[in-house]
Amino acid sequence: MRLIFLGPPGSGKGTQAKQLGARLKIPQLSTGDLLRAAVRGGSELGKEARKYMDAGKLVPDDVVIQLILDRMQEPDCTAGFILDGFPRTLTQAEVLDKAFKAKRIKIDGVISFEIDERVLLERLTGRRVCPNGHGEWHIQFHQPKQAGFCDECHAPLVQRADDREEKIRVRLDAYRADTEPLKKFYGDLKLLRPVKAEGPLDAVAREIETTVGKLS
Ligand code: AP5
Repeated sequence: MRLIFLGPPGSGKGTQAKQLGARLKIPQLSTGDLLRAAVRGGSELGKEARKYMDAGKLVPDDVVIQLILDRMQEPDCTAGFILDGFPRTLTQAEVLDKAFKAKRIKIDGVISFEIDERVLLERLTGRRVCPNGHGEWHIQFHQPKQAGFCDECHAPLVQRADDREEKIRVRLDAYRADTEPLKKFYGDLKLLRPVKAEGPLDAVAREIETTVGKLS
């Protein structure tokens, strides 16, 4: 099963991709997570990417494309994967399409997270993440076992630099300008499957499972 999760920042792509990936036993491949790991690792790529990420802007296509194509070569991707946050521009989508055609593999479906922008702001400003990359929670909707601390390494949780309101607005602008047009791209390929992403976590998960269950 090869899926793409497409949606605005805060729509729940990461949360749902982790859950569904665990159930289907396929990895969630998040370009945001890969980039944040590069930032934590202090590589040149990480330093370059950080400038864009902290500002809420998209990282240049060539950087992201290479990162994800390399990740897809790893053995755990043989049975499939969920692409979370990639592709995010028309160029990225076209390169992915070409790479899949060359390997004679196909995308089974593109799950499009449909959600009102007002909900996104509440979700993103309330998100808290582990500084060591062990996961993310929400101060109200998805709380850790001990308030303010990572369930796994017990480090104090922090707010992402791009989860401040002014940066969220920049990210939403980037989504509208560069990513939303992908709905038409995948709609034309008859791969787009919209899901309502506004409800509670479990309700959204059920709708995604039903939608994915209908993919052949
Ligand atoms: P990335 O990390 O991908 O950020 P994003 O797309 O902005 O997505 P988010 O992680 O903010 O939201 P999400 O939809 O995954 O929601 P989540 O499940 O976390 O990218 C960060 C940056 O990296 C980009 O801005 C860019 O600079 C760069 N980048 C990444 N990919 C790139 C690419 N392809 N090209 C160029 N640049 C790229 O949920 C959010 C919060 O809401 C959580 O706290 C969660 O607990 C809560 N929540 C989730 N679902 C629900 C629910 N149903 N009810 C209540 N709360 C919920």
